[in-house]
Amino acid sequence: MEQLEKKIIFSGIQPSGCITLGNYLGAIKNWVALQDDYRCLYSVVDMHAITVRQDPKQLRQRCLEFLCLLLACGLDPDKNLLFFQSHVPTHAELAWVLNCFTYMGELGRMTQFKDKSAKHADNINVGLFTYPALMAADILLYQADLVPVGGDQKQHVELTRDIAVRFNSLFGETFKVPEPYIPKVGARIMSLAEPTKKMSKSDDNPKAYISLLDDFNVIAKKIKSAVTDSDGRVCRGEGKEGIDNLLNIYSVTSGESIASLEARFEGRGYGEFKAEVAQAVVECIRPIRRRFDDYMNDKAYIESVYKKGAETALKISQRTLDKVHKKLGYVARAK
Ligand code: TYM
Repeated sequence: MEQLEKKIIFSGIQPSGCITLGNYLGAIKNWVALQDDYRCLYSVVDMHAITVRQDPKQLRQRCLEFLCLLLACGLDPDKNLLFFQSHVPTHAELAWVLNCFTYMGELGRMTQFKDKSAKHADNINVGLFTYPALMAADILLYQADLVPVGGDQKQHVELTRDIAVRFNSLFGETFKVPEPYIPKVGARIMSLAEPTKKMSKSDDNPKAYISLLDDFNVIAKKIKSAVTDSDGRVCRGEGKEGIDNLLNIYSVTSGESIASLEARFEGRGYGEFKAEVAQAVVECIRPIRRRFDDYMNDKAYIESVYKKGAETALKISQRTLDKVHKKLGYVARAK
């Protein structure tokens, strides 16, 4: 009974590139913190991933790695439903419907569409354009109350809200209008090479991001070579985006506040500071890595997790889809 009263959370991660420290600190760490108080569904969104070209063999491997990393980060499959998006056909079905209630102008304004179409100018496909309608379907199918994401996904969640409100006002209460849930610190982990850009798993420069699967000495090297400034003071400030980012990373991985870090590093150089940041990051990732290897070696267990996840997700989401089809005027399927 108590289970029914819990609020619902949905979020997703795209299996493109690798899971970065940005994904972990901006989203996954929060997902783990929420799992006791909410009914949570988390999906490896493989259908979103094919909006840019993927090598099939690599995609399959990465999907499994992503799922194992989510488990290794601490998501408990007894408390959360974990599944691959392509295993639950209601996502594609509702996405089609929502495409018909989303305007070209709205999709054209999406920052992610503009960035990705600039980056993949030879493959500006329709899926890339309508990506937010599929994301809206992901969320609305489960009547989610909250969507825990990093700052970069806020625009998509806001569009999801607009689509839900539009549909509800045309057909009566159908979808819960979800709220974005964005962490105060860590919502935007920046690139180590260009700290005015977000850390992205699809960055062409591997020095720009930390993968949760990087060797520990590679992580230390990447942090050591992170772009900073010539000011020499470990504090936030104008033109100090690089240090600001490292302070953020240190604070979220260690739990120490930024003010306390600034005070502790007064009069000390960037070298010492970066060495400590690297240490904190490695200590944060170390237990995740240990568990990751165990999960990757247990294929039968992993299969049972994503099978159960998809079966239950289908049951829940089918209720919403049936309601939508009825409201639209489709003839009910003969039983
Ligand atoms: P994706 O796969 O790019 O990222 C997964 C999550 O990580 C967050 N994130 C970051 N947070 C802080 N700093 C960063 N540098 C950083 N980079 C990424 C993202 O905000 C996200 O929360 N469209 C989504 C996937 C998706 C989804 C959904 C999310 C599909 N359907 C439904 C929520 C609900 C995406 O590409 O995330």
